[in-house]
Amino acid sequence: MSISKAVNKNVTQNTVEKRLQIQRLLGTTQIVASSTGNDVVKGLTQTPKSLPPCYFYDDCGSELFEQICDLPEYYLTRTETKILQQYASEIANITGACELVELGSGSSTKTRILLDAYQQLGYPLHYLPIDVCAGMLESSAKQLLGDYPLLQVYALAGTYELALAQLLPTQLPSRMICFVGSSLGNLTPSECDVFFSQITKALQVGEYFLLGIDLRKPKQILEPAYNDSQAVTAAFNLNMLEHLNQRFEGNFDTTQFEHWAFYNESEHQIEMHLRSVRSQIVELRALNLKVNFALGETILTEISRKFDLNTIKQQLTAQGLLPLHVWTDPNQWFGLLLCQLQA
Ligand code: TRP
Repeated sequence: MSISKAVNKNVTQNTVEKRLQIQRLLGTTQIVASSTGNDVVKGLTQTPKSLPPCYFYDDCGSELFEQICDLPEYYLTRTETKILQQYASEIANITGACELVELGSGSSTKTRILLDAYQQLGYPLHYLPIDVCAGMLESSAKQLLGDYPLLQVYALAGTYELALAQLLPTQLPSRMICFVGSSLGNLTPSECDVFFSQITKALQVGEYFLLGIDLRKPKQILEPAYNDSQAVTAAFNLNMLEHLNQRFEGNFDTTQFEHWAFYNESEHQIEMHLRSVRSQIVELRALNLKVNFALGETILTEISRKFDLNTIKQQLTAQGLLPLHVWTDPNQWFGLLLCQLQA
C-alpha cells in the first residue's frame, strides 16, 4: 500500500471511530449472555415446550439469517426491498429530516435505501440501530460509516424493550422508528400490544413509525419460505440448540432434532418447531436442568404471523399510530406502512 493510501485509510478510520458510538445495554458482548437462563428453564419445563426466539441470534445465527434473506423461496426480503426502493424518496419527503431508529437492524442492508433517500434530500443522517447481536451491530455500523461520510451512528446492543426505554429525544426535527422484515409477526398478539405501547412512548406526537409486514397468502407460497431446499432455515433453527449448549453447558445433539415448520391456517401463522427424533434426556449443566424428550416431541421456537392490512391498520390507529400511507407490491404479498403518532 502506498503511503498516501495508508494515510487516507487512517483518516477514514479515525472519522469512522468519531462517528460511531456503541452502547451495550447490559454491559456484555451479547445481550443474551447476561441472561440468567430463567426463560430457558421456563420454556423447557412447560408443556408444550418452547424457547425464546432471541436465542436464534448469536453470531452464527445472525449470519444464517442473512443467508435466509437471500434464499429464492424467502420472498419477504426481496419484496420488501422493492417496495422500499420504490417509495423511499416519498417517505423521506413526508417525514423531512429525521433520525432513523431501527429495531433488529441485522446487516442494515435495507436501511441503505432509506439513508440514500435522506442523503439525496441533503438531510443530516443520524442512525440508531438496535440489535441483540452486538457483533453484527458493530460490523454493519462500521461498513455503513465507511460508505456514508456524513453519517452518525449511535448503536444500542440490547432487546427492543430496553433500547426503546433508553432513547433520548432526538436532536433532529423528527424521528422515525423502523421495524421491517415482518418481525412484528414474531410477536404474539399480546406481546404486540405491549410493543406498540413501547413504540408510542419512544415517539413524540407527529413522529413516525415505519412498519413492514408479511401479508396472508396461499400456504403453497408461505411454507417453502420456511422450508427452503438448501436447508438454511433448518440450520438456523437448529443453531439455537448449539447456542444454548455454549451458553449453558448443554449437551443437545443437533442430529437428534429436526426442523419442522408449517402454516397454521386458522391462526394465520407459520409455526417453527424443533422435533426430537427419539426419546432422549438433555442436560443444561449451568442451569442445573435435565429435560426429557419423548419421541416426536416438539419445541416451539418461533411464530411468524401473517397479517390482514385492514385489521392491522385498525389496530395501529387504535394505538394512536395513524397509518398515513400503505404501500404494497403488485401481488400484495407484503405491506409497508408509514404511521404517525397522533395527539
Ligand atoms: N421475521 C422473520 C419472519 O417471520 C423471521 C424469520 C424468518 C425466521 N425465517 C425464519 C425465524 C426462520 C425463525 C426461523 O419471516
